[in-house]
Amino acid sequence: MSAEKSIVITGGTSGLGYEIMNAFLNAGWNVAICGRRKAEIEKIRSKRNGQLIAEICDIRIESSISIFLNKVKMEYGGIYVLILNAATIGPLPLPKVEELRIEDLRMTFETNFFGNFNFLKYSIPLLKDGGIVVHITSDAATVPYAGWSAYSSSKAAFDAIIRILNVELTERKIQAFSYDPGDMDTEMHHMALPEDRSPLKNPKDVAGKLLDEVMERLERNE
Ligand SMILES: NC(=O)c1ccc[n+]([C@@H]2O[C@H](COP(=O)([O-])OP(=O)(O)OC[C@H]3O[C@@H](n4cnc5c(N)ncnc54)[C@H](OP(=O)(O)O)[C@@H]3O)[C@@H](O)[C@H]2O)c1
Repeated sequence: MSAEKSIVITGGTSGLGYEIMNAFLNAGWNVAICGRRKAEIEKIRSKRNGQLIAEICDIRIESSISIFLNKVKMEYGGIYVLILNAATIGPLPLPKVEELRIEDLRMTFETNFFGNFNFLKYSIPLLKDGGIVVHITSDAATVPYAGWSAYSSSKAAFDAIIRILNVELTERKIQAFSYDPGDMDTEMHHMALPEDRSPLKNPKDVAGKLLDEVMERLERNE
């Protein structure tokens, strides 16, 4: 199978990742998603038609990344678009800096920085020239919201990796960029801010916009 039109999404079991999976499947792409929740992965496998790999994979575990990406390589031959979407909100309720425990900060970085980093490192050899890498970031990476120091710093740190990657992969015409989806109606948002009653974006609409952005960038790159 051709690696053209193949997309890998980390964290496809709920929220934005799940909707990105649907958007690209509906557009006829070969899609691969992963997540830790076995029941959700099995539900997705049984419900979705189309070209889909759905596997249990924890991005904090190197062997887990390797097994998942080997399957992608065998079935799709490579990756045209990589969406680094999986993330943790970190310790809850959101602690002030003076209350943030170092182990909770490390745990947040374990997923949002080191997990993403390892997933990216294993993916780079599979990326097709002219492809795209997207890091799902947050406005919290640049706006100082009280209580958000662990999550915000992990997102900001990985944004820096993405900016550098973009420069390093210029010769291969691979674009790497961070994408802020805005506040969305997802499990993560409800866990972080259970009292929040402000209007939230539908992750399905955000996924549609991201699909458009990816397609525009790929066309401009041709
Ligand atoms: N919701 C918002 O308002 C908002 C705003 C700005 C940015 N974002 C960003 O949007 C992205 C998607 O979040 P969401 O709002 O859609 O939340 P969500 O519904 O909680 O989705 C998070 C996804 O990440 C996966 N995940 C978490 N840790 C993982 C790990 N170690 N290995 C593999 N998968 C893992 C989860 O799957 P499993 O539990 O099955 O592992 C789940 O599929 C995140 O990067 C988040 O930071 C969200």
